[in-house]
Amino acid sequence: MGIGFVFSQLNLFLTYNKVDGKSGFSLQDLVLTYYGQPDVLLVESKLNGTMREHLENNYERNSLINWAKGGAGKEKLNEVKSIVIKKCLRCHTAGGDAAFAPFDNLSTVSDIFTRINRGISISRLITLSHIHIISIGVIFALSGVIFLFTPINEKLKMVLLIFPFGSLLMDMFSWWLTKLMPVFAITVFIGGVFTVIGFFIQFVISLLTMWKSSEELG
Ligand code: HEC
Repeated sequence: MGIGFVFSQLNLFLTYNKVDGKSGFSLQDLVLTYYGQPDVLLVESKLNGTMREHLENNYERNSLINWAKGGAGKEKLNEVKSIVIKKCLRCHTAGGDAAFAPFDNLSTVSDIFTRINRGISISRLITLSHIHIISIGVIFALSGVIFLFTPINEKLKMVLLIFPFGSLLMDMFSWWLTKLMPVFAITVFIGGVFTVIGFFIQFVISLLTMWKSSEELG
């Protein structure tokens, strides 16, 4: 369980760190994800960020971006059609990883390609919040149950039990605030870091307790 959580955090880090196209995780990555970039087309920021790896070269990227800037109309569709079909449709279709933004027909592609980057959409934010509350909530509840049996000071135990939940809520609540105001990227970051730290403290104390009691038994 602990290992699974580490991998999910690592995955998150590797994804976010690409948002602004520069290596390394920064608050700017969070701002672009949640608040957006009001003077840039969504598809342009994505193709410079998380969607970049799906294209082979700058030529493909520029073709797509220019098509989008030109209004993503029918006239010049042929220049980009094969790129979209080959490189994007795998995920951007019903049942794919990005089914929420389907590229199956011209009208939806044009619609998405001409959007400016307003940050994450409310509906996707709702979906993400929902998934996170359920999945991480279950992980923390299970970890918390194990943690309850550790022999540390009861008051400290209560604090350490509530801490990861509190941090998770702070993190997720801040996603919504960051969508409105970029400064809250800071609390997204702090909430995220505290969530991980809180979970690790529980995890380590639980492991140490199990280790000690197995030594006593053996
Ligand atoms: C491996 C699967 C995959 C491929 C291939 C892929 N995408 Fe995506 N795309 C995603 C996922 C997942 C998201 C949501 C996460 C994000 O925004 O980074 C997304 C988000 C987007 C968005 C933002 C949509 C929105 O409403 O927020 C755009 C625009 C986009 N992709 C364009 C493209 C283009 C253009 C290509 C082809 C060059 C492409 N993608 C290829 C998985 C993929």
